[in-house]
Amino acid sequence: MAVSEIVLSVSGLSKNFGGLQAVRGVDFEVEAGAIVGLIGPNGAGKTTTFNMIAGELPPTTGAINLLGEDITGQRTDVLYHKGLMRTFQLSHEYARMTSLENLAVAAPTQTGENIWSSWFAAGKVRKREAEVHELARETLEFLGLTHVADELAGNLSGGQKKLLEIGRTMMNDSKVVLLDEPGAGVNPTLMRKVAEMIEQLNEERGYTFCIIEHDMDMIARLCGKVVVLAEGQVLMEGTMDEVRNDKRVIDAYFGGEVV
Ligand SMILES: Nc1ncnc2c1ncn2[C@@H]1O[C@H](COP(=O)(O)OP(=O)(O)O)[C@@H](O)[C@H]1O
Ligand SMILES: [Mg+2]
Repeated sequence: MAVSEIVLSVSGLSKNFGGLQAVRGVDFEVEAGAIVGLIGPNGAGKTTTFNMIAGELPPTTGAINLLGEDITGQRTDVLYHKGLMRTFQLSHEYARMTSLENLAVAAPTQTGENIWSSWFAAGKVRKREAEVHELARETLEFLGLTHVADELAGNLSGGQKKLLEIGRTMMNDSKVVLLDEPGAGVNPTLMRKVAEMIEQLNEERGYTFCIIEHDMDMIARLCGKVVVLAEGQVLMEGTMDEVRNDKRVIDAYFGGEVV
């Protein structure tokens, strides 16, 4: 594998909401095996950028490339099968399903199978169900959530829900994972655990990550490269040390209006 293989890139990416230019000509690249941070003040356009990459919002202009393919405008479910997963700033669990069921439903279905072929291939379907169940169990164990396997996801703590979000990415053969504020509302102990899991998924399973996060300790620990957005534009990119000491970044966070 080439050292600098680019798995995800966005170029000239913009999004207008009526008269509001939420994202304005954003360019950045994510290398295979990297953990890239996407930071910036509230309203900078970080989540909107993720929404466009993940196929939830069509860009107004610009292009998105995943694993060498132009994926601009492709739907979330199509991208899911190409190994792109995202988690949400506010956890998206199915509150009335158990933790185990939440993971099981995140597993990809076998493509091209209609109800009749499923009917005639009942044995195959049962085998797949057993595999999914096993994978969901293993994933809960990895997350340290085995004790709440049968608990309704709606009853989990904020931190446990965040872990379940990460677990969903493990039910697919994820190649590129976008995490939107994995640390939001998570207590410091669990926060360290979330960071450890991200490292482990990166090192042991080869996941590439792009992470939006306000906790700068987490970003500094995990990310080689950090991209700073402000008012819809890339202000700078560099290492966390470079970012931390950059006057433009300090101004963007602490100058201007208090948000
Ligand atoms: N669906 C939407 N409709 C209208 N405005 C939106 C929508 N989503 C986000 N915005 C606006 O776009 C800007 C960027 O938002 P967002 O991407 O959520 O920022 P961040 O994640 O960096 O805090 C904000 O001004 C926000 O209010
Ligand atoms: Mg956001």
